Amino acid sequence: MTKEKTPTPKKPQLLITGGAGYIGSHMCVESLQAGYDVVVLDNLSNSSPKSLAAVERITQKQLTFIEGDIRDDAKLKEVFSKHQFDAVVHFAGLKAVGESNSEPLKYYDNNVHGTLRLLEAMAEHDVKTLVFSSSATVYGMPEQMPIREDFPTGAINPYGKTKLNVEVILQDLYASDPSWRIGMLRYFNPVGAHASGEIGEDPSDIPNNLMPYVSQVAVGRLKELSIFGNDYDTHDGTGVRDYIHVVDLVQGHLKALEFLATKPQLSVHNLGTGTGYSVLDIVQAFEKASGTPIPYKMAPRREGDAAKSYADPAKAKNELGWTAQYDLERMCADVWRWQSQHPNGYSE
Ligand code: NAD
Ligand code: WQD
Repeated sequence: MTKEKTPTPKKPQLLITGGAGYIGSHMCVESLQAGYDVVVLDNLSNSSPKSLAAVERITQKQLTFIEGDIRDDAKLKEVFSKHQFDAVVHFAGLKAVGESNSEPLKYYDNNVHGTLRLLEAMAEHDVKTLVFSSSATVYGMPEQMPIREDFPTGAINPYGKTKLNVEVILQDLYASDPSWRIGMLRYFNPVGAHASGEIGEDPSDIPNNLMPYVSQVAVGRLKELSIFGNDYDTHDGTGVRDYIHVVDLVQGHLKALEFLATKPQLSVHNLGTGTGYSVLDIVQAFEKASGTPIPYKMAPRREGDAAKSYADPAKAKNELGWTAQYDLERMCADVWRWQSQHPNGYSE
């Protein structure tokens, strides 16, 4: 990886904020392979530069890594002055729901204030194409399934509210200047890893999310899974979610960039498969993929959890020409390849 390299001229160039993280590193792989030049800006608060070294090994291509914070105006000025970006794909942010309840200011500062700084820098340097990582969490507790983009929003925790706040800011920005091209992508539950097993999800602490928890049980780092509630109104009583392979998810970003290239606009799309799986479905599928039993116990419901959440992905299909390709079996197989090859993630 080169530091602060002069960009190659002809290729379209992306700034990927948070590019060293779980989803961002997969975006780096697919963008480089799709012919983009990639500059990553990441403060490494929840990631390792080893992910970027792995991206270069996988793709046999180089990217430019800049260690820095999206809230640092001087750094942004330097980055935007040095490079002529065609678009920004903005992953940088904090994402732990529980932590956002105890430290809301940290979340508003990082996710909302950070995005404002980034938008200011973009406007100043006339870079007006943005893909933003939003979340299905902006729908709160919807009563109807599957979830469409026109459903009411209403996040129920500070993390979700930061995503909703940014969506509102982006709407106002576009209303003030319709020459912007803004794609807001509402992710459902990203899981999986690159097929090489070289990059994947590497939570810095005990995982909050189901799939990394299950995979750490399988690899022997954690003793057993607690299933948060088995009395929901679902096919087996456990919570149902729309798990989507991270490679499918980032392919949706490439499609969103193509869509934004057609005309200035502000758009919002769900990125999900449209299929819901329960916690027990995931346990079973992971046992099969890993050949390892996953010990579990039933535990009380987790506060703020919905019984079911799954997308209506029709709008992304119709407008972006995107649909998820990978099934649950493949998601689990890829997680297991990453986890079994890297039992301690990047910190080995
Ligand atoms: P991640 O923590 O692995 O990646 C985020 C990256 O951003 C990390 O590398 C971190 O070091 C960096 N970062 C954080 N604050 C920064 C700052 N102020 N300046 C520069 N870099 C900063 O998380 P992820 O799972 O890859 O998520 C990426 C984005 O997608 C986030 O915005 C997240 O909220 C959103 N999202 C994630 C999920 C999910 O379940 N993983 C679901 C919906 C939305
Ligand atoms: C999935 C299911 C749990 C862990 C969260 C965020 C959301 C988005 C994605 C960023 C639920 C159950 C979990 C465990 C369990 N992130 N579970 N035992 O809650 O759908 O979404 O991540 O935007 O904003 O809220 O995902 O993986 O935490 O939970 O039984 O140890 O697994 O109750 O039914 P969730 P999750």
